[in-house]
Amino acid sequence: MDKLKGKTVLITGGSSGIGLASAKLFLEQGARLAITGRDPDGLMRARDELGSDTLVIRSDAGNLADIGALMQQVANHFGHLDVLFINAAIATAAPMELVSEAQFDDIMGINFKGAFFTIQKALPLFSAGGSIIVTTSITNQLGSPDFSVYGASKAALRSLVQSLGLELIGRGIRINAISPGPIATPIFDRFGLPADMVKGIKTGIAQKSPSKRFGQPLEVAKVALFLASDDAAYLVGEEIVVDGGMSLL
Ligand SMILES: NC(=O)c1ccc[n+]([C@@H]2O[C@H](COP(=O)([O-])OP(=O)(O)OC[C@H]3O[C@@H](n4cnc5c(N)ncnc54)[C@H](OP(=O)(O)O)[C@@H]3O)[C@@H](O)[C@H]2O)c1
Repeated sequence: MDKLKGKTVLITGGSSGIGLASAKLFLEQGARLAITGRDPDGLMRARDELGSDTLVIRSDAGNLADIGALMQQVANHFGHLDVLFINAAIATAAPMELVSEAQFDDIMGINFKGAFFTIQKALPLFSAGGSIIVTTSITNQLGSPDFSVYGASKAALRSLVQSLGLELIGRGIRINAISPGPIATPIFDRFGLPADMVKGIKTGIAQKSPSKRFGQPLEVAKVALFLASDDAAYLVGEEIVVDGGMSLL
């Protein structure tokens, strides 16, 4: 019950899905927690679920000024960080010909550039080593039609985790990735596709999956807990795939 006792943790995108499930699990394990998101209603609901001890911060993961202000708030509140979980991301669908510059910049700006600078600006808070976890996706290795920019943003993150694995371990900071397959979260309803199409996509994925089902956010959160904790003390620059066997097909 005490795998993160007294540890200070920041989860970006902690107001929904995998991030929220991780926030709940990390609290159960004794963490002192801060989470981010953008949607005020989502943040309010998360605050209700996580309790008033959790620092709930509205911060756009794709905005460098927001990221700077976020780190200042975390520094003022906790003084330092032990665990950073870079989880915020968007996934909007479009065939190659229809991807606009704005959509491209939005996906890369939040998923990759935002992640990069969140880590950069958080580093001064890691005074005594610690753990950084990055949520990638199995699309970083599998072809994923209509999600080419999203998949590329996650492949960039996978590469970043390998480079920073070597760059940061000398300071006692481990960085690793979690690569989820299909997980039952609201992200599918945010693809920007008609509801009946999303339903069809979900049915097709569940049928195709070797496990014949979607994963649950808690099943990913448990892996995040492992990477955050000292149980993963010798894991550096790795990516753990949590996909019910999907990427083996
Ligand atoms: N679910 C899956 O099948 C799956 C598969 C592979 C990888 N993943 C990855 O898993 C991670 C979590 O996704 P999820 O499935 O749990 O989705 P989700 O339920 O949509 O949660 C996404 C979270 O990220 C936040 N977020 C998005 N853009 C943000 C921004 N610009 N600034 C701050 N927060 C932002 C959202 O808050 P707001 O809504 O308030 O912005 C929300 O808290 C993502 O990195 C995703 O790419 C998910």
